[in-house]
Amino acid sequence: MLVIALCKGRFLEPSLDLLARAGIHFTDDVASSRKLIFDSADQRHRVVLVKPADVPTYVEYGAADIGIAGRDVLLETGADVLQPLDLKFGYCRIAVAGRGGSGAAPAGAAPTTRIATKYPRITIDYYNARGIPVEIIPLSGSIELAPLIGLADRIVDIVETGQTLKENGLEVLEVIAETTARLLINRAGYQTKREEVRALIQSLEKVIA
Ligand code: PRP
Repeated sequence: MLVIALCKGRFLEPSLDLLARAGIHFTDDVASSRKLIFDSADQRHRVVLVKPADVPTYVEYGAADIGIAGRDVLLETGADVLQPLDLKFGYCRIAVAGRGGSGAAPAGAAPTTRIATKYPRITIDYYNARGIPVEIIPLSGSIELAPLIGLADRIVDIVETGQTLKENGLEVLEVIAETTARLLINRAGYQTKREEVRALIQSLEKVIA
């Protein structure tokens, strides 16, 4: 049996849809249930539901053979997993955002720019590469609030439609990277469950082709 870690939240429906099109079906309604473990109808696959940022950890440690997570989460965790497939959904930009116009002084212009983010590693790497000192304010959600109430000068966050920024009077200042959903594979499982893993990769490749 292959164990597949999926994200709760916005990736869940497209991930389940992808698995269904690859022939993996569940008798439970995975998206609406409060259960965390679901076996497929043919008992060949087991889905576990975890927080998006935790998917790479489950796969890296082998608690799950396979996972579906955003490239943003992979960059942030630096998990040592195989990444054979771009699954072509969940497109977002990872961006620096702040107030536009006169409020958008370049980072580094102030003594030390404070940046609120749930991506401290990506943010530090980005500014270190440019030799710009910044202070990271780590947050886990509602990042757009930080510059509105004086907690930070800017944010680094994912931007999908841009609606959240717009409704909070913020705008993209710099794009750091682009992200989509990726298939993750545990390195050892890729060898010990070779047939099952490769069969699933091939099915998914056909679906997204
Ligand atoms: C993400 C992200 C932005 C928003 C961007 O938050 O952190 O807040 O989505 O989407 P948009 O560009 O389509 O408006 P999420 O909904 O995951 O909630 P969070 O604030 O709890 O992180």
